[in-house]
Amino acid sequence: MVTLYRAISVQLAFRDGIIHTEYEGQHVIKRILAIETSCDETAAAVVAHGRTIVSNVVASQIDIHRRYGGVVPEVASRQHVLSIEQVVNAVLAELPNGWGDVDAVAATYGPGLSGALLTGLNVAKTIAWVRGLPFIGVNHVEAHIYGAWLTEREPPTFPCVALIVSGGHTLLVYMRDHGHAERLGGTLDDAAGEAFDKVARLLELGFPGGPAIQQSAIAPADVHARLPRAWLHGTFDFSFSGLKTAVLHEMQHARSLHGDNTRALAQRQRELAYLFQESVVDILMRKTRDAVKQTGATTVVLAGGVAANARLREVLQRRAGVPVHVPPIHLCTDNAAMIAACAYWRPVFGDYATTVDANLAFV
Ligand code: KG4
Ligand code: ZN
Repeated sequence: MVTLYRAISVQLAFRDGIIHTEYEGQHVIKRILAIETSCDETAAAVVAHGRTIVSNVVASQIDIHRRYGGVVPEVASRQHVLSIEQVVNAVLAELPNGWGDVDAVAATYGPGLSGALLTGLNVAKTIAWVRGLPFIGVNHVEAHIYGAWLTEREPPTFPCVALIVSGGHTLLVYMRDHGHAERLGGTLDDAAGEAFDKVARLLELGFPGGPAIQQSAIAPADVHARLPRAWLHGTFDFSFSGLKTAVLHEMQHARSLHGDNTRALAQRQRELAYLFQESVVDILMRKTRDAVKQTGATTVVLAGGVAANARLREVLQRRAGVPVHVPPIHLCTDNAAMIAACAYWRPVFGDYATTVDANLAFV
């Protein structure tokens, strides 16, 4: 069932049962209000022309989840319900003409935590319905890539290779154009961010693990010391579980060696944080560089929460072989501006039937 929308400019772009955001080379939908609630950030934003952030608000729940050592899905869902109205109102307050500055509404519908996704998706669909605006469902993993379109003077050129490294995903994709992505490889076990979080817990460094490991990392005196790297030669796949086990064994060894000497143990924890980070960064950089060589990509986009890692940013930028686009840190971690930027390039299916899909695949 296809519903036609009231907005005349949008009906103009109606073709083949789909409302196109682009019509005869012109984008008819210019300003998109997006909502993101797939995990533990309640976020809303308005982005114009897929590139200009008009307003971007993120309410983080990180302090609430920190006491549990990880994101608790039920707590996240409830917190989204409590925050969403305030977050959307904060975005609207920054629009000169209020609702008059919104041409379409978008929301993440997967992948993520079902209960968390439900809040953002239903609020977005309701706003769209009530205001007679088109609704655009967005894939969270794909949206991470669009952080790179939001701030740089020159956006990434196609074809590009995108490395998406977040708490839930580690994916290498080849993008021929907007909406045309092919999977090159992905993780066979833990996502890169998940590995950072689990290893930080093993090293008793706190949550979220990525920033904790980055801040704690200190190079050991032995410059040849290193932890294993799973190369999985001939593929663009990743595996981090062996590395995690290696950290566990090193920690057990350090505990038996240092006993009650908490200072020596703390030093070893920081060295292991460094060695772990080096292994992950080395694997991510080499696989991405190989992907560029094999596909002839002209740029690399580094995206997802782990793209906030300073060492990864530095090593990839230095060694990828082509220009690397990395969003600023607040656009690497979850936000709604990237959802709006991604929605800009999507055709809009003409009904509100989109439902949450916790395991939604990207490629
Ligand atoms: O993209 P994101 O905000 O949420 C998901 O969609 O998963 O990514 C969160 C992940 C967490 O695992 C966190 O530990 C990691 O990104 N992260 C980092 C850094 N900052 C956040 N990992 C490494 N270094 C960082 N500086
Ligand atoms: Zn994310």
